[in-house]
Amino acid sequence: MLKKNQIFNPTGDDSLENRTIIKGRTTGLFNLNAVKYPWAKAMYQVMIGNFWVPEKVSGLTEDANMYSKLLPAEGRAYRGIISFLTFLDSIQTVNLPNFSDYVTSPEVNLLLSIQSFQEAIHSQSYTTILETVVDAQERDQIYYYWREDKVLFERNEYIGQIYQDFKDTPSDANFFRALIGNFLLESLYFYNGFAFFDTLAYNSKMIATGRMINYIRRDELTHVVLFANIIKEIRQEFPEMYDAKVVRSLFEEAVKQEILWSQHILGDDVPGMTRQTTEQYTRWLANDRLRMIKTLCILRRWSIPTNTSRPWRITTARRPISLSLPSLITLSPAP
Ligand SMILES: [Fe+2]
Ligand SMILES: [Fe+2]
Repeated sequence: MLKKNQIFNPTGDDSLENRTIIKGRTTGLFNLNAVKYPWAKAMYQVMIGNFWVPEKVSGLTEDANMYSKLLPAEGRAYRGIISFLTFLDSIQTVNLPNFSDYVTSPEVNLLLSIQSFQEAIHSQSYTTILETVVDAQERDQIYYYWREDKVLFERNEYIGQIYQDFKDTPSDANFFRALIGNFLLESLYFYNGFAFFDTLAYNSKMIATGRMINYIRRDELTHVVLFANIIKEIRQEFPEMYDAKVVRSLFEEAVKQEILWSQHILGDDVPGMTRQTTEQYTRWLANDRLRMIKTLCILRRWSIPTNTSRPWRITTARRPISLSLPSLITLSPAP
């Protein structure tokens, strides 16, 4: 079982040679002059530089006018996807401090705090959108869409349970599962939703929502890199904790659920998106994310099956979705 950090441990040891990402003996002091993980220092600059607030994003009144002109399939997808994104950002805000309780590197805990703040801002951004675009009754229906939609409910429940298991029983195995679950949430679950808003914006619809989503995506990309780095460091420092079978089964389940949900909510009637492109994009993205954490699965030539050899792209977009990471952000060397 993992042990929670003490708030203040006067007999702790903050020296770099004895510092580990978890299971260390931190005093609780944030001595950020002494940094063991150089990628964390670079990430701090990028994450702070990304500061934004949703109230400053203009144009939502035009989105409110446009909302009533959306095709029925677009309107349904808009509501369902915002509901799912709201859920993801809510549980991220709530659960990230649970990780921090066991992280014994101050430079990494600093980033987790910034991430929690950003997830809360993302929740505020959906609030800001819904306040302007829909009326109070519809707003509530969007927040609680999972009460009526079985596919969404089962999805939310599955994700929430992985975090709950870790919170209730913080074993090494549950910590690792929650870590991979977090990585999948940040790196895979948001992206069909993002692709939908890109497609709407390309068709000159819901432009301000798309603008807001772009700010959110910029933050999410840093969260992807943060958790990829944490996973890599854990694999290096605690190889016994790294379980390739768990990575594989969680990835397979995540891909299955993401395709099921995305096809369910997007269908074939949103111009620019089809069931097929959604599936291809999800599989391609999952393989890209596996490569980021350079898993044993990859070394054993396992990957998510794809039915296309070329990366999927939104064919109608003016430019392909940018999946590149901010240049300042570095991945830690592969173990
Ligand atoms: Fe977020
Ligand atoms: Fe995030």
